[in-house]
Amino acid sequence: MSCTKCGSENVIIHRRYSGQHLCKKCFIETIQKKVLKDIKKYELIKKGDKVLVALSGGKDSTTVLDILSILAERNIIELEAITIDEGIKDYREKGIEYASETCKKLGIPQHIFSFKEHFKITIDEIMASKPPRKACTYCGVLRRWILNKEAKKLGADKIATGHNLDDEVQAIVMNYLEGNIENLTRIGPATYSQKFVTKIKPLREIPEKEVTAYVMAKGLKVHLEECPYRKTSFRKKIGTILTGLSKDHPTILYSTLRGHEKIRNALKKELKGESILRECIRCGQPAARDLCKTCTLLKEIGRLKDEIHSHNR
Ligand code: FES
Ligand code: ZN
Repeated sequence: MSCTKCGSENVIIHRRYSGQHLCKKCFIETIQKKVLKDIKKYELIKKGDKVLVALSGGKDSTTVLDILSILAERNIIELEAITIDEGIKDYREKGIEYASETCKKLGIPQHIFSFKEHFKITIDEIMASKPPRKACTYCGVLRRWILNKEAKKLGADKIATGHNLDDEVQAIVMNYLEGNIENLTRIGPATYSQKFVTKIKPLREIPEKEVTAYVMAKGLKVHLEECPYRKTSFRKKIGTILTGLSKDHPTILYSTLRGHEKIRNALKKELKGESILRECIRCGQPAARDLCKTCTLLKEIGRLKDEIHSHNR
């Protein structure tokens, strides 16, 4: 089989959803072009933006950084990376090491923050406490809190995350199955909210398998290990089902994504836009109630006590 684009015999990937066979060079080019095209199409980045990549050192965020560095080289954007240490022993250390190496190689400034310094507790410590807790809930909410706070301080216009096509479709299906219809209105290429730094997902239309192929083709050093807390997550179960379905129905991830795009606006109208956010009475971050999600979770694990209102003092 030869490359559909250039005729080379060294094919490295077969795209079952489009029928293309691609050699290494053409594959890398198509991924970069597609991501840059989507950035334009969905207006994810403006000239002069300061973009902060949420860099874990894994394949997805490293790919985002690698492709956005093309825009930084062309002086279209200012690019920096932010890495969060959630405190997951024998797992996170390697990711941070690889993330730092990539930043050094690309000459991109990196900022590292930890749960320990911000919340005085790590994910491992939260998971060791009683009653049993869902790691991903704490990990996701607390990580977003640090990202938002530090991105604002750093003067970022956008936070770019590594969500790929599989992640996005998993989120759509999960929220649908759990009946979280309001969440479905927030899933999209960018998340705009009056009080948060805008989050963008440049890899949203790239299948996970192709992100893996991209890092291999480019020889990027990434942390491929899976988070030890992911094994039991609902997301993982949905991911396994979707991967199984994709074998016989190669276009199913794209059709789910497009279907969601069609109903998203109708849902938004039905639900009359986003709920008004105010400031958390403890930390000052955006919140739907008195306390933001982070402070609510910290309170649940006994980390707030009489610290409440401390930010107003
Ligand atoms: Fe959920 Fe790591 S805590 S994947
Ligand atoms: Zn708060």
